[in-house]
Amino acid sequence: MKVSSDAFAGLQSQKPDALLALIAQYRADPRADKIDVGVGVYRSEAGDTPVMRAVKDAEAVLLSEQASKSYLGAEGDQRFAQLLWQLVSGSNRLGTRCFGLQTPGGTGALRVGAELLARARPDARVWIGEPTWPNHAPIFREAGLQVRTHRYLGATGGDIDFDAMVSALTEARAGDMLLLHGCCHNPTGTQFSQEQWMALAGLCLQRGIIPFIDLAYQGLGDGMEEDAQGARHMLAAVPDALLAYSCDKNFAVYRDRVGALFIHSGTESSLELARTNALTIARSLWSMPPDHGAAVVRTILDNPALRTDWEDELADMRRRLQIVRQGLASADPLLAPIATQRGLFSRLPIHADAIATVRRTHGIYMPADGRINIAGLNQTNLSRFVDGVLPHLPGYRGNSASDPSAPQEVSA
Ligand code: LMR
Repeated sequence: MKVSSDAFAGLQSQKPDALLALIAQYRADPRADKIDVGVGVYRSEAGDTPVMRAVKDAEAVLLSEQASKSYLGAEGDQRFAQLLWQLVSGSNRLGTRCFGLQTPGGTGALRVGAELLARARPDARVWIGEPTWPNHAPIFREAGLQVRTHRYLGATGGDIDFDAMVSALTEARAGDMLLLHGCCHNPTGTQFSQEQWMALAGLCLQRGIIPFIDLAYQGLGDGMEEDAQGARHMLAAVPDALLAYSCDKNFAVYRDRVGALFIHSGTESSLELARTNALTIARSLWSMPPDHGAAVVRTILDNPALRTDWEDELADMRRRLQIVRQGLASADPLLAPIATQRGLFSRLPIHADAIATVRRTHGIYMPADGRINIAGLNQTNLSRFVDGVLPHLPGYRGNSASDPSAPQEVSA
């Protein structure tokens, strides 16, 4: 006799991830002039997301020279971790107070960090600014941690309300975690000043808060060194910190899922505890991380010619983002804050209904929170984009990019 168990009947139905659903919707739209400012991938002026030159060259090196694909271990490629650490910290050695675990993307790093905190301090709360990347809170909740949100943006939505953030964090307890975007905040493109980083470092130190820095866009803001300064201030100031690194954007290896978790600890003995626990967690999640993307990044960073070529191409990408930002900011004063923001994203104060309208009428695809991927715009579609969204922004007075008589204000 067969017993029917109906194994999954107790599950609750889940909505598809909104951003991933938007990708599918965009692909299904037959309009040739549709505009994708949705998912956060870099696009060239021609609208492509090309494989970077140095990545292609490194793949050729691996193809001819890689002698084995045997397992490396749960810690992954340690030379890769060491080279990434150099990008983050400026130091060539991980030293005795830091461990680098290769992970599948920055998400893998965030998840291991979350699980590590849940093991170390099950009652800890994780403080996350609002808004943030929509996957942040679920990652920590899935690890069983409580998430608390703190205010992040000011009333206009164009800049950080640092005082409100600091005041919200007075409720944080010792042992709580504070998630910080290392640079190029997703979704707003805002960034902490160096003074604000130093103030945050002082706050974490004083109150025993553990910072968890998510560094996913290094090199796409002001430069490789500049974009690491905040993290460096923090790591120099506090005894214990975590840092999730993603190579997906700055090496454009998105689907290869390349990242690392860096665990920084005040004492060698607690680092050793954290290291062995992180390895156990990683082993149960994916056993060993996928090698290819990390091997490509290691090959580039270990080879001076490939490294220079990668840095040059990354600088071109960064410059293009700046050009688009200037173009948007000069199209209308309402868009002026975009010039001061950095990285792939900015967020428009546009209502969800209007977002649906511009998708229907203009084929402009952006997530429901008004985040736009700056790289989705180029000289061909920028004025169409501006004409489509501008009438929906609060305070719109009728000047637009396509109106040549309109005064053009260039933001500082
Ligand atoms: C994004 O924010 O668009 C990217 O980080 C892709 C993702 O996984 O959400």
